[in-house]
Amino acid sequence: MLKVGIIGAGGIGTIHAKCYKSIPEAKVVAVADIIPERAKELASMFNAEYYDHGDKIIERPDIDVVDICVPTYLHCDYTLKAASAKKHVLCEKPMALSIEEGRKMIEATNVAGVTFMVAHVLRYFPEYENAYGTIKKGLIGLPKIVRTYRGGPNPAVTREWYGIAEKSGGAIQDMLIHDIDFLKMCFGPVKEVYAKGNILKRKDYKDPEYDLVILEFYNGVIAHLVADWSGSEDTPFVTKLEIAGTEGLIEYDSSKSVPLNVRTTNIKSEKSGVAVPESPLDTDSNPYTREIRLFLNAVEFKKEPPISGNEALESLGIALAAIKSIKLDRPVKPEEVLK
Ligand SMILES: NC(=O)c1ccc[n+]([C@@H]2O[C@H](COP(=O)([O-])OP(=O)(O)OC[C@H]3O[C@@H](n4cnc5c(N)ncnc54)[C@H](O)[C@@H]3O)[C@@H](O)[C@H]2O)c1
Repeated sequence: MLKVGIIGAGGIGTIHAKCYKSIPEAKVVAVADIIPERAKELASMFNAEYYDHGDKIIERPDIDVVDICVPTYLHCDYTLKAASAKKHVLCEKPMALSIEEGRKMIEATNVAGVTFMVAHVLRYFPEYENAYGTIKKGLIGLPKIVRTYRGGPNPAVTREWYGIAEKSGGAIQDMLIHDIDFLKMCFGPVKEVYAKGNILKRKDYKDPEYDLVILEFYNGVIAHLVADWSGSEDTPFVTKLEIAGTEGLIEYDSSKSVPLNVRTTNIKSEKSGVAVPESPLDTDSNPYTREIRLFLNAVEFKKEPPISGNEALESLGIALAAIKSIKLDRPVKPEEVLK
């Protein structure tokens, strides 16, 4: 049985911890957080140890897998340390703040010979998986035009680091990367990115909280993506997907399918306030559980994980191209940021 240490017991760390409860092939043996009460609370779900720093997990020789659920600016550092201690790494998205960091993470995990996967969970949401299958079966003909929306409460209201671009990357890098990664899986590489962004409500912001991003794919598909962090704490989180093809249309709107929306910052609550639509599925079909199990399966059977480091780097490159496009007010090719 694989022994897991979770670093970061906030929103997504709590979701991951709940998933491990129903994963028989792994056992959480330690949880770390700089707020030790948070680590203690999650650790108590498993009778596990808790620590006030992630390094204490990495130092433990019995731990096989490190699950990195800390803010984005810490992903690279913890991944490098975990790799040098020969731990397999599941790291939350976005993989890193910069391409340089992402490359270091890929190299370090390759050199160490450990399994490394970035948790691009949208691929495992049933509606999106279904949309992908529908496209691949040719049921809507040749895909041509895509529209997506992803938005809700600004996470910086409850967690300051989200509002600091040097720590989270901002709405495009932190949140829109879900749609970017999914669309790249559907349609392949992106040729050019053009984006605009604005600040709607938060006068203290220097980075846009509402972004419009156009992706032109090499296969001719054009996608228009919206990232919206302009909501207040009780704004429901909504995602939408529309794909028009030569012979049909795929439409999804989470606000029409999520049976209940509850938003809270209370960590003890059943809901975590994490900025993705929470799946009503609480079984093995839960996208987070599936994602973690696929990663663990790759570790156990020494297979390639379903999402490679290079794929995650490409998604990061597209997000960074969009941010650069806003700053330079011109279209940007992902190669410009990936070189
Ligand atoms: N895949 C998804 O659906 C999804 C959803 C939300 C967040 N995320 C990503 O997960 C990451 C964490 O986001 P979150 O919403 O859980 O943030 P959060 O602020 O809710 O939780 C982060 C936790 O890390 C702890 N922490 C900070 N520094 C630490 C350190 N040096 N060592 C140990 N613990 C430390 C904090 O105390 C906090 O409890 C981000 O990269 C975010 O983009 C992914």
